[in-house]
Amino acid sequence: MIPRVKERAALAQVVVVEGPPEAGALAAETILLALQVKPNLVLGLATGSSPQPVYSELASSIRNQHIDVSHVRGFALDEYVGLSPDHPASYHSTIHREVVVPLGLDPDLVLVPRGNITEVSHAGEDFEERLSQSGGVDIQLLGVGSNGHVGFNEPGSSLASLTRVKTLAEQTRRDNARFFDSPEEVPTHCVTQGIGTILRAKRIILLAFGASKAQALSRAVEGPITSSCPASAIQLHPRVTVLADLEAASQLTQLDYYQRAWRSKPEWQRL
Ligand code: GLP
Repeated sequence: MIPRVKERAALAQVVVVEGPPEAGALAAETILLALQVKPNLVLGLATGSSPQPVYSELASSIRNQHIDVSHVRGFALDEYVGLSPDHPASYHSTIHREVVVPLGLDPDLVLVPRGNITEVSHAGEDFEERLSQSGGVDIQLLGVGSNGHVGFNEPGSSLASLTRVKTLAEQTRRDNARFFDSPEEVPTHCVTQGIGTILRAKRIILLAFGASKAQALSRAVEGPITSSCPASAIQLHPRVTVLADLEAASQLTQLDYYQRAWRSKPEWQRL
């Protein structure tokens, strides 16, 4: 279990897990505990491969333990501009297929930023309004791009930014080409929650697996806080847990300390 902390207590920790299944179990347990206290929990939903183990662990717990998720709300991080919502690579489709259906969430309670051209000029403001009406995200799941992006906040994004249109970095387009028939098909623009939006979440769980994330993770956790590595903004948040496998954590200079702190965490620190 990821330690519970009192409402105002600060927490920043790196947990080195054996692999994605252990990370999925830890994050799912934290979410399910929060759900016991707040049936209409607001989840911040990331796409990509990193949060997959969390979704699959949640889906099986919900199914096996008959957990009521009918009031759970969800806000996705981002969406491509110009893809039809039913395009299989759109984040509307992805969130529906990978989160809403397996977890059995009410689709009307899950919001993805709108990326269609006719609505994109006010998509950011609309999304922020709905998010603030919800009372804000309770637990935000995050992955990290190989260039240090979170959501689709590419290097150079304002650390105070709110939901808005961004231009995708070429590296991100290359990384995400695997979801499209050809690299040219990857959209050039997106609507993404801003870094300021993400930092308003009450709790953040960032997941990173594999050697391709090692550099981005070390910059995010131990580098200077800089818009050149948008994920480094997590250092400003009071309640962050990073769940990483050894490969992703391999460039962390304080690796021994994180491992020792986690292994020897006393019960009283788990409050
Ligand atoms: C995409 C998403 C991000 C995600 C990142 C990493 O660009 N917009 O939210 O964190 O990819 O994806 P993955 O977890 O598949 O490595």
